[in-house]
Amino acid sequence: MARAMEHDFIPGLAGVPVTRSAISHIDGHRGILKLRGYAIEELAEKSTYEEAAYLVLKGELPNKRQLERFEAELAACRAVEPAILDIMKLYPKAAHPMSALQTGVAAMGLFYPRRVDDEELNHEACCRLVAQLPTLVAAFHNIRQGKEPVAPRPELTHAANFLYMLNGEAPEPLVERTFDVSLILHIEHTINASTFTAMVTSSTLADPYGTVAAAVASLGGPLHGGANERVLQMLSEIRSPENAEAAIDRKIAEKEVIFGMGHREYKTMDPRAPILKGLIKPLIDRFGSTPLYDVAVEVERVAVNRLGERGIWPNVDFYSGIVYDRMGIPTDLFTPVFAVSRIAGWMAHWSEQLAHNRLFRPTQIYEGHDSREYVPIDLRG
Ligand code: COA
Repeated sequence: MARAMEHDFIPGLAGVPVTRSAISHIDGHRGILKLRGYAIEELAEKSTYEEAAYLVLKGELPNKRQLERFEAELAACRAVEPAILDIMKLYPKAAHPMSALQTGVAAMGLFYPRRVDDEELNHEACCRLVAQLPTLVAAFHNIRQGKEPVAPRPELTHAANFLYMLNGEAPEPLVERTFDVSLILHIEHTINASTFTAMVTSSTLADPYGTVAAAVASLGGPLHGGANERVLQMLSEIRSPENAEAAIDRKIAEKEVIFGMGHREYKTMDPRAPILKGLIKPLIDRFGSTPLYDVAVEVERVAVNRLGERGIWPNVDFYSGIVYDRMGIPTDLFTPVFAVSRIAGWMAHWSEQLAHNRLFRPTQIYEGHDSREYVPIDLRG
């Protein structure tokens, strides 16, 4: 068998293809993202999350009848098992909602089939996970405030229903559409760390709930989906646009990570960032201004000026937090909201991979000792 040579080792697997896929495509030098061949800009403008989820999962845009059926299917399985809500009531109230989500998703494996060899069951698992992740996130948010979880309402859209379960009231159209667009923008993004985590986990033919629990853990890290939370913290610390230049220069000098900037694939502006930025102005007109937006614009200007030529530009996480913040979503729910969207992408890759699965089992370049003599414990120094 061929063995990897030293020069084959590529840290972080940067640029190494790990699959063939027909789900999404990034041109990182031109700042282009397409889902199943459709530009992200057009999907964000013209689609709903349900439509985009159908596209990502099934490969084609649905016709009216297919979409209605899919929407009804999702709406019908939004409610989570009551026992999972009971388990959630035992979580520490101060737990991070990503840990709560990961535990909740893993608990779904207690109740539903774990096999992955039946197409109909696999389709049901996809729908159940897309439909129930929002319910899990909203339920824990209510429970940690000492409230009862709000039951989903099947007549609301995916976006409106999540905000209804979170806040106890249905959102106004501007907020619903803004959230819907944010969900579309985060739905799928080639072989990012959480998607790859899902692929590695499911390559053992693990159950879909364990697979998604692993992906949720991966998404939560600050170098991946967890960056959106860190961006808001960073902007709050910088406090005013006048402080931005000195703060960014200090971070660069001290080799600190500027969250929301840089991307493994994009060496120019992430195409999702300007769309998210464009969602903020109508929210400000409706709900009032926020100093965070002015700080962000100045941080972007300075960071691009200093780092742009090195290929470090705003990514999807740079403006998403301000959008969520203006909509009243708490900072520690930003990453769970990312998962609420990305679940469709994870399941699309899961389904695609199951059709031609091969266990992921890479190799290593061994750098440890050769043979050593075992010394009994009493004789060790
Ligand atoms: N702030 C400051 N410097 C950054 C940076 C950032 N956000 N992103 C990359 N760099 C610098 C690194 O310090 C490194 O510099 P060096 O060559 O002098 O050591 C160089 O750019 C390459 O960075 P590296 O981390 O090796 O690239 P990567 O492809 O592995 O990293 C990210 C991609 C996303 C991990 C990285 O850009 C990052 O940490 N971004 C911030 C976190 C974030 O927003 N994540 C969400 C991504 S959607």
